[in-house]
Amino acid sequence: MTHVPMTHVNASSTSVDQTADLARGLAELMRPGDLVVLTGGLGCGKTAFTQGLGAGLGVTDNITSPTFALVQSYGGRLDLHHLDVYRLENVNEALDLGLAELLDDDAVVAIEWGDTIAPVLPQEYLEVHIEIGSEGNHRELTLHGRGNRWQSRMRAVAAVVSNVCGDAAGRGDEQGGA
Ligand SMILES: Nc1ncnc2c1ncn2[C@@H]1O[C@H](COP(=O)(O)OP(=O)(O)O)[C@@H](O)[C@H]1O
Ligand SMILES: [Mg+2]
Repeated sequence: MTHVPMTHVNASSTSVDQTADLARGLAELMRPGDLVVLTGGLGCGKTAFTQGLGAGLGVTDNITSPTFALVQSYGGRLDLHHLDVYRLENVNEALDLGLAELLDDDAVVAIEWGDTIAPVLPQEYLEVHIEIGSEGNHRELTLHGRGNRWQSRMRAVAAVVSNVCGDAAGRGDEQGGA
């Protein structure tokens, strides 16, 4: 079992604070140049997650939704570039935002609705998918490690999930369960 790569980890959150705490814990695993792609519908908690991530990266400024600015950069232990590409008409506009330079910087890049610009993203990133649960403040998160850069960290991701949310359900695609 230990040799089966863990591809994704499921986490249940029951409050916005728990989602932010989870992200804050995951920030400890972040390295310069890491990319976090946030997916899921409006109001699922992508910005809330990014706020926790920023807190964990040592950002002290208030992280707001970049929906209108498209890119916001914050200084921290590791700098954070926060993008929301919901309003982009096509992937080329992402390049016009200086995406390549942002990814090349020794910072962490978090992109809300990043799945919509997948063709211009690198192959290696942590995908955070959030689904709104049946009860008001419940969210189901799936943390998917894309590429070796993240697959190698998924057990550490699972440890953070179990610390913050309890009962981390780690999964390897090959075996359908862990
Ligand atoms: N468990 C939860 N995790 C994250 N957000 C939650 C949760 N429960 C309730 N919320 C609320 O959902 C909203 C999420 O908003 P936001 O983070 O801006 O979403 P998005 O960026 O995905 O559009 C906030 O109002 C937040 O308080
Ligand atoms: Mg948002």
